[in-house]
Amino acid sequence: MVRSRKLVLGFGTALCLLGIYVLCFNQETPLSSSKVPMKTFYHLTHKHNSDLPDSEDLLDQEEINDQSNTFSTLDSKLSVEPEPKEDSIVPNVPDVPKVPDSSDVPKSSSKSDGVGKTRTSTKGPPLPQPNADGPTEPSYIGDTYMSEILPPQTNCTDGIQRRVAETEFGRRFLKYIPVVQWHQHVTPERYQRLSKYPGTHGWGGIDYKTLVETMSFLNSSANQQMLDDWKDRRIKSECIRCAVVGNGGILKGSNKGKEIDSHHYVFRTNGAIIKGFEQDVGSRTTHYTFSTNTLMNSMRTYSGAGYKSPPKSDETRYIFLPDHDRDYLLMKAAATHTKVERGREKNKDPLMYFGEDVSAKKLKIYHPDFVRYLRNRFLRSHTMQTKFMNIYRPSTGAVMLLAALHTCDQVSAYGFMTPDFKKYSDHYFDNVYHPVGFFVNHDFRMELSLWQQLHKAGLIKLYMG
Ligand SMILES: *[C@@H]1O[C@H](CO)[C@@H](O)[C@H](O)[C@H]1NC(C)=O
Ligand SMILES: *[C@@H]1O[C@H](CO)[C@@H](O)[C@H](O)[C@H]1NC(C)=O
Repeated sequence: MVRSRKLVLGFGTALCLLGIYVLCFNQETPLSSSKVPMKTFYHLTHKHNSDLPDSEDLLDQEEINDQSNTFSTLDSKLSVEPEPKEDSIVPNVPDVPKVPDSSDVPKSSSKSDGVGKTRTSTKGPPLPQPNADGPTEPSYIGDTYMSEILPPQTNCTDGIQRRVAETEFGRRFLKYIPVVQWHQHVTPERYQRLSKYPGTHGWGGIDYKTLVETMSFLNSSANQQMLDDWKDRRIKSECIRCAVVGNGGILKGSNKGKEIDSHHYVFRTNGAIIKGFEQDVGSRTTHYTFSTNTLMNSMRTYSGAGYKSPPKSDETRYIFLPDHDRDYLLMKAAATHTKVERGREKNKDPLMYFGEDVSAKKLKIYHPDFVRYLRNRFLRSHTMQTKFMNIYRPSTGAVMLLAALHTCDQVSAYGFMTPDFKKYSDHYFDNVYHPVGFFVNHDFRMELSLWQQLHKAGLIKLYMG
């Protein structure tokens, strides 16, 4: 009797909670049209449905559950912990100035060096000034980053790094933020700072031992730089030109293949299917960006369209976007030509994905400071004030494009979302029209408008059909 009453009571409570949840969900995810949240909800809950057209950047249901008890609101996190001071790593390069930490305190200074280049300190300026007595940034934002000076790879006179200061992006752009991490970046102090941030924004998802062990394989200078082979290419050009290729339907019939391939570097991501589409998307890949999760999703979802594995060639580098220890474990397996030792990819052979020729020199992994910086300063979405704050991140394609913006002198972007995206299918390789899928863990509308702003500021050249 008591038991069944308890049951009824429990059931009633569950219903109530569900009702409240649905209400909150609708209020907290205004992805501009009221239809979108239902759609995203559909995507999040029907992940394993094989008809699902768009899942490359989708989180697994299990991961959502893993994180559901860490969802919290902005308000509950408003107390501010002081960030530990970060250091700068200055490699053995003579005549580079030591750069002070970037910090929340807006300050900016610049000076000219002997060859007429202007070095701007990484004292980051952009975000709203903390009030003397009012609340400042919630601590999970973490707008303090490592800085690292690498010698400039070119003397390009009108490169992005030179021009950005005069644009509206000058104040948020950090010239000395490391784009990729390598073994020298792993220290106990930095682990203490970065383990506070979950997912791709920190080292919160990985234990220190695994981190040290896996990162020990990324110990060559090739692992420290995105464009590691520029010197070896012996190209006369003063400026490094990069093509960054998204998978958008706008590329279908574009005839842009030759133009894309004529750049020094060609970046691609996720379901980048090349065979049969060369005319429109080109054939070279120098940098392939993915996370283990998106790679597995791409292999599952786009196999019918012809996606078998990441592109392979002598010049191809693989850049992991780590949002889990899965990424570090797969990276280590690829570096050592061994099977993945544990986790969801246990016993998988990395050579299946990256080919027999993969070696540690061809692998890179984005720095969590870089991804968190992109989120905080370029894609600070409203989603971060919802229960999805812990799963929100810039999309894989956005990280790739912004990484090019921080490493190349000139960037042309193809296959990224444009304001008329509804005219085009989701992907260039779709056989029939599929509308673009929206997900709660990304903010594609914000990304779309960022690409427009960067294009208008003259920092990227965006292909708009
Ligand atoms: C840039 O120019 C300076 C001065 O001419 C030269 O010493 C340096 O090697 C050049 N750097 C590159 C990467 O070409
Ligand atoms: C990097 O690590 C590998 C494997 O531990 C080692 O064989 C190699 O000598 C190291 N290279 C450098 C430059 O330290």
